Amino acid sequence: MKEKLLEEFERVFGGTDDCRVFFAPGRVNLIGEHTDYNGGHVFPCALTIGTYAVARKNGMDTCRFYSMNFVNQGIKAVNLDELVYDREEYNWANYPMGVISMLNENETRVDEGIDFLVYGNIPNASGLSSSASLEVLTAYACRELFGFEMSLVDIALLSQKAENKFIGVNCGIMDQFAIAMGKKDNAIFLDTATLNYEYAPIELKGAKIVITCSNKKRGLGDSKYNERRSECEDALKSIQSVKKIDSLGELTEAEFEEVKNVIGDETKTRRAKHAVYENMRTVRAVEALKAGDLKTFGELMNASHLSLQKDYEVTGIELDTIVETSWKVPGVIGARMTGAGFGGCTVAIVRDENVDEYIKTVGDEYLKKIGYAADFYTVEIGDGPMEL
Ligand code: GLA
Repeated sequence: MKEKLLEEFERVFGGTDDCRVFFAPGRVNLIGEHTDYNGGHVFPCALTIGTYAVARKNGMDTCRFYSMNFVNQGIKAVNLDELVYDREEYNWANYPMGVISMLNENETRVDEGIDFLVYGNIPNASGLSSSASLEVLTAYACRELFGFEMSLVDIALLSQKAENKFIGVNCGIMDQFAIAMGKKDNAIFLDTATLNYEYAPIELKGAKIVITCSNKKRGLGDSKYNERRSECEDALKSIQSVKKIDSLGELTEAEFEEVKNVIGDETKTRRAKHAVYENMRTVRAVEALKAGDLKTFGELMNASHLSLQKDYEVTGIELDTIVETSWKVPGVIGARMTGAGFGGCTVAIVRDENVDEYIKTVGDEYLKKIGYAADFYTVEIGDGPMEL
């Protein structure tokens, strides 16, 4: 891989002196969806697929970006003083631009242009966080090239800030944190209210994580993501008029049921209900996993999907078809949509001996009902960012 990337870099930019090669993973969330901006828990893990970059300082005041995934877009060149979001003009390069702009916001850390070639093997716009992967990769590569101090947690926070302030998507911390802090064969049990976290080994003993990509394209910016977030904020405000809390993640199910009437809006009540119940499901799922009870873990994954379908309404026919078909296949321990929803991917835990049957059954049904094919990935849990 490294040779292939360097060869391409040489062809595009000329020369490979002082080039360094970096990698940042994608992520999949096992449970705890739409809880991260509600002060709840999440349980994601980094993947071995992700984004690669060849990077070097170029001695100019211009950054040059090139993606092997979007070759027809050519090189995007932008002056360090002119890092301003432009969807049309810069397209994918807005992500590394956003990160560099945030790195330089208060002090100039990136004081020279870089040449930055990237290649990703995460299906893009799939809900496996190709954009957060690119953000964390950029921050990590810049830290290494320019030699400034920044912890991996701060890399995650800075990358989230780039997404919020530069790209304009009000995402939570889950994706960037899962990617920056990834650990092989472990998922991360993260309390998004405090950023306290704990690694939990994923020992699936005879089962695999299978991701199904619906191929329904979505971009978070276009989706109803920000709308869901503000519905939860409105619900929280109403509850705060009768109860002293900072986030929905502080409530148990019983406490929520006691106060929910103050929300006074049926839709917002369902949104808040999902946030509260999903958080509690996540806590219980991790307890079950630690106790070796994969069956309960799977049941909680299934319940999570139903809540995202009925109360949070972020699934849609594509994701529902995959998940509802999955539930009927023998050897499926649990299945749910993963990520923001509105398209993207599902995640299932499937017994080894049933994986082929799973792919065939779900693939056939999806094609029949939706009219185009889904893609399947049997994934491994990998480490966070690294230099190759
Ligand atoms: C996207 C966001 C995350 C999180 C999920 C939903 O992936 O980037 O912060 O909110 O959606 O759980």
